[in-house]
Amino acid sequence: MHLQELERLKQEIVRFMMMYKFAVDELTTKIEILKQEFHFIHDYNPIEHVTSRVKSPESILQKAMRKKVELTLPSIKENIRDIAGVRIVCSFVSDIYRISEMLQKQAGLHVEECRDYITNPKPNGYRSLHLIVKVPVFTSEGTENVWAEIQIRTIAMDFWASLEHKLNYKYNYEIPQPLVDELRTAADAVAQLDSKMERIRREVDNFKANNHHTDFELQELWLNNQKFNLPADFLHMLLEANGNRK
Ligand code: GTP
Ligand code: MG
Repeated sequence: MHLQELERLKQEIVRFMMMYKFAVDELTTKIEILKQEFHFIHDYNPIEHVTSRVKSPESILQKAMRKKVELTLPSIKENIRDIAGVRIVCSFVSDIYRISEMLQKQAGLHVEECRDYITNPKPNGYRSLHLIVKVPVFTSEGTENVWAEIQIRTIAMDFWASLEHKLNYKYNYEIPQPLVDELRTAADAVAQLDSKMERIRREVDNFKANNHHTDFELQELWLNNQKFNLPADFLHMLLEANGNRK
């Protein structure tokens, strides 16, 4: 092949990969805003941490061959939907569904498919919620909708999945049966732990709901480590104005 042609092809691949990097950036920003929204409004952080990656060209090629996808960039673009991947790790199962709902409602994000491996775990015990989404990416050449995969799971599910992943890597996807069985048992323990933690958390929420804020707490407001005072007069005047409108 001509050197110039190879150069051109490389440029095309750079452009291709770049779109996925931008899709990941867009998603990460959206998720960061959800996280801060929660933090400011509910004084609570449902997101433990967020990681992301763009699939390497090598893994893209492997997956394309495995799935018998035609080896052209447009076909790969349409058929391999997890080149851009974001993983959201939460503390509690209910947070997973809350975040998933918030993402589904977000303007500028199309959720094509939701795979609930929490309600229906995989036979090996894998649990997580996957959203297959389309993210609009804006560049100087126009808007392009890029496929991406968002995985949402608890810390415990993540712990299990990363161990299982390591074992698959080590045993080249042929984990010995005794270990498969142990992983399965561990997955059940993870599910039990998650529901126990959920119950305890609900207790804490109920306790908080029954113990009202002090006036002192009502009169301050924090944004980004910056403290604002909320004068009592201000609250009362707003309250009155609201009452008059009704
Ligand atoms: P691939 O598994 O990526 O080929 O695609 P798929 O179309 O089968 O989608 P699926 O929903 O099964 O999995 C998508 C992604 O979820 C994977 O790439 C993994 O990151 C994760 N995943 C799915 N199943 C497992 C599992 O059994 N163990 C672990 N550790 N991760 C899994
Ligand atoms: Mg799979």
